[in-house]
Formats: sequence, C-alpha cells, structure tokens
Amino acid sequence: MIGDGEVGHDGEVIRPLRDEVIRPLRDDELPLLADATLMNVNWTGEPRFTAAEVAAEPTLAHYTVLDRGRGDEALVAVAGGETVGLVWYLFLGGDDPGFGHVADDVPELSVCVWPGHRGAGLGERLVEAACAHAAGRGARRMSLSVEAGNPARRLYTRLGFAGVPGAAEGTMVRGL
Ligand SMILES: CC(C)(COP(=O)(O)OP(=O)(O)OC[C@H]1O[C@@H](n2cnc3c(N)ncnc32)[C@H](O)[C@@H]1OP(=O)(O)O)[C@@H](O)C(=O)NCCC(=O)NCCS
Repeated sequence: MIGDGEVGHDGEVIRPLRDEVIRPLRDDELPLLADATLMNVNWTGEPRFTAAEVAAEPTLAHYTVLDRGRGDEALVAVAGGETVGLVWYLFLGGDDPGFGHVADDVPELSVCVWPGHRGAGLGERLVEAACAHAAGRGARRMSLSVEAGNPARRLYTRLGFAGVPGAAEGTMVRGL
C-alpha cells in the first residue's frame, strides 16, 4: 500500500493508481511504444537520445514496432483513464536481433512505467502479465537486456531472470 506523499525511486511523488487495468495494446495506441522506448533509453535521467535519434537508429527503432503476425504483443497499464505503463515482447531475430537476443523463438521483453508511478509495484505486475501472456501462447522462455548500472536489474533478478553465459552483456532469461 502506498502512503500519502511517498516518493518513488524516480524522485516523483507516487500518485495512486485508480482502477488499474492491464490489457492488450490497441492499434491506435501503438505510438506508445516509441514513447516507452525513449524513456527506456534515457533511463539514467539524462537526455541521451532524442525521439528522432531513436527513430533513425535501427537497433533502437525496432523496439518501437509491433509485428503481431510474428507473435509480438504489448500490454498497457491504464489507471484513472491515463497510460501508466507498458510492457511488450518482440520476436526480434534472424538478421535483426535485439540486444537481448538468445534464440529466435525466445521473445525479448521491454517494460516502462511512467514517471510518478515508479517504485509502487506496477513494473512487477507488468512483467508478470507479459510472461503469463507469452506462456499462454506457448513461449517457453523470455529474455531481456538491461544496461550495466540500471537498478531495474534487481527487479528482474527478483522475478527470476538470470544472466546468460556467452550472450551479450546485460542479457537475462527466465523460464515461463
Ligand atoms: C524499471 C521499471 C519498469 C520498474 O517499474 P517499477 O514500477 O518502478 O518497479 P516495481 O515498483 O515493480 O519494483 C521496484 C523495483 O524496481 C527496481 N528499480 C528500477 N529502477 C530503479 C531505480 N531508479 N531506483 C531504485 N530501484 C529501481 C528495483 O529493483 C525495485 O525493486 P527493489 O525496491 O526490490 O529493489 C521502471 O522503474 C521504469 O520504467 N524505469 C525507467 C526506465 C527503465 O529503466 N526501464 C527498463 C529498461 S531495462
């Protein structure tokens, strides 16, 4: 339970989540992937990348596109009529692998909680919802990539993700 005035790890006062729902992203909401990717690449709080730079860099831009025909899916958290978080998993592979690629049949997860709602458990609920969703579609493992120094790694470790020997630095995998 979040108390009045409690501050999240982003330094913002945590706003209570009213009538939180986590549901599949609608097509008209697809631009949220670019918003969330931009927040994720700028996780340090410094403006390391602009939206235009993300769009122009193929190794980042592919995280902003959902190919449902390939099995990709995104779940959005909405509370009080506002978007408060997004989680998505992509089957990037072949000649266009993501940073957390381990095998073409292992989707790679990205998650972002909007400022003002971080540190209150929503990230955990989003990751668990995406893992359950992918498992329901037959996926056996989920991967992700986390940059060195990002404290999100603690959350992923707590949720059962572990480093992958031989894979790129920051790659983590969990069984579903
Ligand atoms: C990472 C993120 C999705 C986690 O969502 P959340 O709702 O804040 O997470 P929860 O409240 O469920 O869990 C809190 C955990 O987040 C982790 N965490 C993430 N960023 C953190 C930070 N800046 N400071 C402290 N803890 C942080 C901690 O492990 C914390 O758990 P702990 O208190 O047990 O150590 C969210 O903080 C976020 O969007 N951060 C900015 C972008 C980002 O880093 N995205 C991930 C890229 S890999």
